[in-house]
Amino acid sequence: MNSNMRPADMKRINTPALAEAFISEQTEQIRNQVGGKKVLLALSGGVDSSVVAALLIKAIGKQLVCVHVNHGLMRKGESEQVLSVFRDQMDANLIYVDATDRFLDLLAGVDEPERKRKIIGGEFINVFDEEARKLEGISFLAQGTIYPDILESDGVKAHHNVGGLPEDMDFELVEPVKLLFKDEVRVVGRALGLPASMVERQPFPGPGLGVRCLGAITRDRLAALRESDAILREEFGKAGLADKVWQFFTVVPDFRSTGVRDGKRAFDWPVIIRAVNTVDAMTATVPEIPWTVLQTITTRILAEVSGVCRVLYDLTPKPVGTIEWE
Ligand code: XMP
Repeated sequence: MNSNMRPADMKRINTPALAEAFISEQTEQIRNQVGGKKVLLALSGGVDSSVVAALLIKAIGKQLVCVHVNHGLMRKGESEQVLSVFRDQMDANLIYVDATDRFLDLLAGVDEPERKRKIIGGEFINVFDEEARKLEGISFLAQGTIYPDILESDGVKAHHNVGGLPEDMDFELVEPVKLLFKDEVRVVGRALGLPASMVERQPFPGPGLGVRCLGAITRDRLAALRESDAILREEFGKAGLADKVWQFFTVVPDFRSTGVRDGKRAFDWPVIIRAVNTVDAMTATVPEIPWTVLQTITTRILAEVSGVCRVLYDLTPKPVGTIEWE
């Protein structure tokens, strides 16, 4: 039977007991496949790569080498969380690469959305490739391929996610969650002891904040984006909206508008709040957010985020507007 096909009698993993059974079966399989050799994994901190990392750490400990590339387009606290969970708590063999300057230098002045995506994806592979070449004795590459990736894109990890196999490197693949659906990956992640904030994470595009800092990315607008996004997430959390709204984030466009601050005219950026509900991301609706929550977020962004003088809520459903702005 094709090992990329989910067996007809495979149970949906939806309880901790089923997750435990899956974990012990997989750890044994991984040990059999890998033996005493080393495995490399690009660990972004997303649900899939995090669950694969936790599974491999359980199975083979320090034979797993994780590489976390910070492309400078992560949300506030995200790279720090990867370090604290995997290096500090799970004692993983983790290489952290802060490639912020490389990415932002390459992106300077580039305003075409698809070009930005290509640069980010391409540079990610370059950085990962360079790190892989510095390592000795790696025989396997682990990937967070999940079943929808196989169904939708011929077994290649998500069509527009960054990362991938360095082409001339001869690694055998380790893909322990390739027959699981997303909800099952989350159940397994919880059973492996990963924090809820990591396992329940909403989708976050591979190119990260890069597609939300509209047009040519600048460091000051990127900082405004990261801070406003953190405020939005905090306030949605406090208001109990974080697990009711499917995806939410802020966007900072590349135009400015007039404001008044401390009696003086200002010429600063707007921040746009985007929040959507959807089943499959093909269509999306915009939820009604309590006015008081929107007011609190607006007040906080205007007070705490420098360079911002206006806050907007995007009411556009998909279609016509896509979820992301670029
Ligand atoms: P759109 O904007 O097309 O988004 O309505 C649908 C879903 O896909 C996510 N998205 C991306 N994910 N790389 C990704 O990994 C990308 O380039 C990308 N663009 C959009 C988006 O966040 C939403 O969940």
